[in-house]
Amino acid sequence: MDKLPKIGPYQLVSPVLLAPMAGITDRPFRQLVMKMGAGLATSEMITSKVELWNSRKTQQRLLLPDDNEPRSIQIVGNDPELMAQAAKLNAQQGAQIIDINMGCPAKKVCKKAAGSALMRDEKLIAEILDAVVKAVNIPVTLKTRTGWTEDKKNALSIAKIAEDCGIQAIAIHGRTGASRFTGTAEYDTVAEVKSKINIPVFANGDITTPKQAKVVLEYTGCDAIMVGRGSQGQPWLLGEISYFLKTGQLKKELSVLEKGKIAQNHIRQIHDHYGERIGVRIARKHLAWYAEKALASVADFEQSKQNSHSFVQSFHTLTTADDQNKFIENIIKNIEPPKGAAA
Ligand SMILES: Cc1cc2nc3c(=O)[nH]c(=O)nc-3n(C[C@H](O)[C@H](O)[C@H](O)COP(=O)(O)O)c2cc1C
Repeated sequence: MDKLPKIGPYQLVSPVLLAPMAGITDRPFRQLVMKMGAGLATSEMITSKVELWNSRKTQQRLLLPDDNEPRSIQIVGNDPELMAQAAKLNAQQGAQIIDINMGCPAKKVCKKAAGSALMRDEKLIAEILDAVVKAVNIPVTLKTRTGWTEDKKNALSIAKIAEDCGIQAIAIHGRTGASRFTGTAEYDTVAEVKSKINIPVFANGDITTPKQAKVVLEYTGCDAIMVGRGSQGQPWLLGEISYFLKTGQLKKELSVLEKGKIAQNHIRQIHDHYGERIGVRIARKHLAWYAEKALASVADFEQSKQNSHSFVQSFHTLTTADDQNKFIENIIKNIEPPKGAAA
């Protein structure tokens, strides 16, 4: 990969981007993934209804001045004026890129004809994109799917509208809105869009390994790839993919001990970000993913699956940050250092 993508004035350091995932790609996770080599980590979506921003949930999703650059935040909604207002406020609060969610299939979002349900109404799409682009003087990007249903794959038409409205990059998840997360992602539609528009296009969907990332990049001709669920429990994955795309070599795998230390630090950051009551709950799902991914690399897989299960169950019973930290500390003490490493 010789040319790194640019979004407006922002030159990305890697063509491997973290897909926004509500409830997962919060500030601690984004910081970790960026530190380990990703090119961009957009925040979880926030509603365009500014009067709801006082909720704890949205407050914790808003960007902070020391978030990793370029600071990109995603907004969701279906009213051009509200979307424009939300974009403007985020820009005033330090966002450097506004991303528009037109890909989320969640019932709560689609019921209000937002997220991927917007793909059914191209006139409204144009109105929203136009209003948001005109409201801010920072780049606006779009995240969408291949279409609303299998027989209405209108990603190309939407991409052309986006380009005409001044959108500066578009990410496409290779599924339709109706298919939600079933089946497998297809990249033909993504490749077609890439070949017919001039703004950067990012391919997304089911990318979980460095080799697969390379295949998708070459097949689609896209400017970058975006990784979502593959990063759960392995925030180092995006850095590993970046390394492979740059050098053609697989990066030396982290030891279980190194992975454990990353998890330990991540869990502490979660406690700090959310406070103890919520943080302890959020830490549980991340720890379960770490257990699954880190132990999956241990030779005796069946055995490790059982270990990971009881390990996760024990962790779930802990109700304080202190107990969770002590539990992880104890696990780490019991992980053997890699052969040849200093004790
Ligand atoms: C739990 C979860 C939450 C998600 N939240 C968002 C979101 O807030 N905004 C968005 O555009 N897409 C969201 N997505 C979709 C992802 O960004 C991505 O497009 C999708 O997971 C496909 O990529 P993957 O196969 O690499 O996971 C979410 C996906 C999951 C699994």
